[in-house]
Amino acid sequence: MIMLRRTLLHAVAAALLTPGLALAQADTVKIGLILPLTGPFASTGRQVEAAARLYMQQNGSTVAGKKIELVVKDDTSAPDIAKRIAQEMVNDKVAVLAGFGLTPLALAVAPVATQAKVPEVVMAAGTSMITEASPYVVRSSFTVAQSVVPMAEWASKQGMKKIVTIVSDFAPGLDAEKVFSETFTKAGGKVENVRVPLRNPDFAPFLQRAADEKPDAIFVFVPSGAGTQLMKQYAERGLDKSGIKLIGTGDMTDDDILNDMGDVALGVITAQFYSAAHPSAENKAFVDAFKKANKGMRPNFMAVGGYDGMHLIYEALKKTNGNTDGDALVAAMKSMAWTSPRGPVSIDPATRDIIQNIYVRKVEKVGGELYNVEFATIPNVKDPVKAAK
Ligand code: PHB
Repeated sequence: MIMLRRTLLHAVAAALLTPGLALAQADTVKIGLILPLTGPFASTGRQVEAAARLYMQQNGSTVAGKKIELVVKDDTSAPDIAKRIAQEMVNDKVAVLAGFGLTPLALAVAPVATQAKVPEVVMAAGTSMITEASPYVVRSSFTVAQSVVPMAEWASKQGMKKIVTIVSDFAPGLDAEKVFSETFTKAGGKVENVRVPLRNPDFAPFLQRAADEKPDAIFVFVPSGAGTQLMKQYAERGLDKSGIKLIGTGDMTDDDILNDMGDVALGVITAQFYSAAHPSAENKAFVDAFKKANKGMRPNFMAVGGYDGMHLIYEALKKTNGNTDGDALVAAMKSMAWTSPRGPVSIDPATRDIIQNIYVRKVEKVGGELYNVEFATIPNVKDPVKAAK
């Protein structure tokens, strides 16, 4: 009797709850955020996740009448795990896949996005060809090549004639090496190329090899987080006093680690799209709010990719009136333009890649802290690799 009553009660409760449940599900938009949250690239995951959460905190979790739910998963920087998580998220009806701290992770997920017709918002990875891996990829981060061309042109304008490049041996590093070498030799310079393994890199022998060439400068691309080790070994070999200049993309003097590098970083010249010291009202508000929400952590360029990626998703949902059809969302994202903490940005409708300013910066001490201080702006830079095709 008791059993029967319980069963009946369950049945009644289920009948009462089910319509509500179905409605709640339809009214929820899930965003799947796939990031390296452990392992050597965890700083990227930490920065992007913190920025995505800040964006939601500032802009609310309801868009076009839909409740936004962020689902965050750790890919441990393994492409097969990223792909498996993406497939599970698609089965679980996420409207958007987002994150992607490294190129191989973004590429592993591209076929899943294509098959499921779900937008893949790349918030971090920077190899040029990622947007060509799926028509559902839209990028809020950057291409490494966007920063490399202005850096090579700046070096040439300074009268530098010979440069050795040191890059991490994986896709974005190879983009950096190729684009730097092409741009600098076209301007009349000479280039030697050196590659360093991506995992557990020991830069010392490579730095020595580069220094032995007696170049005017060493150009470096290392992924976010790896700059500390490079700078330490650069100082240990006394290269900061050798007269050979150190230049690179801003990944080396990443705001997440710059302050811990010490005075050896002073004077390093880099080109990139974001500095925590970017002098705008939007950036000041972003840096202050980010620090406040994250125990004083300074946002880096990865954080801005995450913050702007959330903006892209929110605004696309507004444009579609809450429609989560993948093709409709990607169409809404194309041509989107807004003012980011980094400056004015837009999505190139032809490539689904971001168009943004690139700044040339110098590491200086400001108020007792190290910053990348911008001193030149190259406006509205498109990805040069795709533009050249
Ligand atoms: C990438 O894997 O595309 C990547 C990772 C870290 C960077 C830049 C590019 O700093």
